[in-house]
Amino acid sequence: MTTTFDPTLYLPQLARIREIIPMTAREKFFRLELQKPLNHRPGQFVMLSLLGVGEAPISITCGPRDDTTLEMVIRDAGSLTHALHATKPGQTLGVRGPFGSGFDLDELRGKAIVCIVGGLGLVPMRALIQAVLAQLDAFPSLTIISGCRSPAEELFRDEMRALERLGDSNGKIRVIRLVDRTDHLPWDGRVGLVTAPIAEVPLDPENTRVALCGPPVMYKFAIMELKSRGIPDAHIFVDLERRMKCGVGKCGHCQINQVYCCQEGPVFRFDRIAQLPEALL
Ligand code: FES
Repeated sequence: MTTTFDPTLYLPQLARIREIIPMTAREKFFRLELQKPLNHRPGQFVMLSLLGVGEAPISITCGPRDDTTLEMVIRDAGSLTHALHATKPGQTLGVRGPFGSGFDLDELRGKAIVCIVGGLGLVPMRALIQAVLAQLDAFPSLTIISGCRSPAEELFRDEMRALERLGDSNGKIRVIRLVDRTDHLPWDGRVGLVTAPIAEVPLDPENTRVALCGPPVMYKFAIMELKSRGIPDAHIFVDLERRMKCGVGKCGHCQINQVYCCQEGPVFRFDRIAQLPEALL
């Protein structure tokens, strides 16, 4: 998939922080008020800047919307994100984008959607989940398998629980939440690897589309399992978001052989990258 270059994407729009909600020890949820709608696709990202500190690619975690709200989850993992964690509602940030390819909803509509996510992978995947939920009549089913290391690291717990309950009354939605270990904390989901429940999900190879976002080891085992169930590479979509650095095709950090992940990705149909030796490392 190619993206059209738009020179206005070099100009940040100023965005006001409306709300910051701590989620875990390392992640905070940010809700911003933009000056104009982003018109993004699920899976795209923005370049977020804090004046005088720097700029970094950040996943968009809300589904497509025509208002001026932008939602993100930021992990405190460096000097910029540390400074972002210290900001307060009312402060101004710079936002450029959206960038990257994202999920093509036209390609997914009418198919049973299976989302398999590990850890921070839920952040960009939530945008796809919201997009599917917004048009649920257009999708036969939505299955979410979401895993993280421990209960203390689970993101969007209330939303995932609410979807679990919705699934109990609405046969189209199924949510399976897992942790690797409970760390002796209260936990109402399963314990095990995020790839384990794939075996129990009904998969019709022709009419199912699977979206994956998580750590590299998850892709490897999830794809092995999906292939053993007959899912073709062209029906698997992988979000390689974590390879980003500059986000605009300048640093080469995201390059996988001849493919620039930040421009052609971060969402790839698996048949596009299956033969690239470094794609899932
Ligand atoms: S992230 Fe720098 S070139 Fe893609």
